[in-house]
Amino acid sequence: MPEKINRENIGQAFQELTKFHRNFMSSHIADEAREPLYKEYQGVQQFALPSPGTKNSTSTFEAIVHRRSTRDFTKEVLKPHHLSKILWSSQGITAKIKGAELRSVGSAGALHPIETYLVINNVGDLPVGLYHYNIRAHALDLLIQDDFSIGMVNACMGQEFLGQAAVNFLWTGLFKRNTWRYSQRGYRYTYLECGHVVQNAIIACQAMDVASCEVGAFFDDELNLLLGLDGHEESILSILSCGMSEISNTPIISEIIPAKTKIEKLSE
Ligand SMILES: Cc1cc2nc3c(=O)[nH]c(=O)nc-3n(C[C@H](O)[C@H](O)[C@H](O)COP(=O)(O)O)c2cc1C
Repeated sequence: MPEKINRENIGQAFQELTKFHRNFMSSHIADEAREPLYKEYQGVQQFALPSPGTKNSTSTFEAIVHRRSTRDFTKEVLKPHHLSKILWSSQGITAKIKGAELRSVGSAGALHPIETYLVINNVGDLPVGLYHYNIRAHALDLLIQDDFSIGMVNACMGQEFLGQAAVNFLWTGLFKRNTWRYSQRGYRYTYLECGHVVQNAIIACQAMDVASCEVGAFFDDELNLLLGLDGHEESILSILSCGMSEISNTPIISEIIPAKTKIEKLSE
């Protein structure tokens, strides 16, 4: 554990200070501090998404083997049913058990600290602008109608493809929803869960031949400002740029490269 915590060793300190030990588990904060499970905006224009459905001709395994980051998007419009499937796959409610709403991704304590925002440039007839995914309504709430493509490129360190994407998904962590229960260890769970959400979105894209690229290089507070967040209680964690592409799938390795050491064969 570093003696003095600074920018150079904060990761190491974080890892150390958020460990569970047999003689110390982080405390459970009082119930009053509990955050609502859903963030919902009032008085905004809402666009209902089509039902996602679960039928698809591409198998999960085909989607995984063909998954590739793609940064060349055409001007072809993305359809609302694409958005519906991507959002539902990454955050949608899939079951209600004993009053609890469960989703397409797991979550520590089913607290679901991830929120989804979208910068839409070219999806169906939707106005260009900033949206928030209303999970319970499976709908998009329009927060600001404006063209954010240049702002996105600038906030993401000049990565031009963000300006050409039909949609950029912006996932945030609402840390308080998790730290209420897990204290500082809740940050770990929030980051882990964001990864689950992003990967489900990527696989959903791939299964529909929608190109995507995750983006982690951005100026956090410039995006937090765009989203109207303070960056402490809730902050940007990851982005996925999506659109149609002419780039065909890269060749895949059809056989696993044999290991040089002798290996035991498992039965099927
Ligand atoms: C957490 C994370 C952050 C990433 N950030 C960026 C990024 O800012 N810009 C970019 O072009 N690609 C980014 N990528 C995509 C990686 O460059 C890409 O996954 C890697 O080169 C492997 O290629 P593949 O995804 O096609 O297998 C990111 C990927 C991950 C998982």
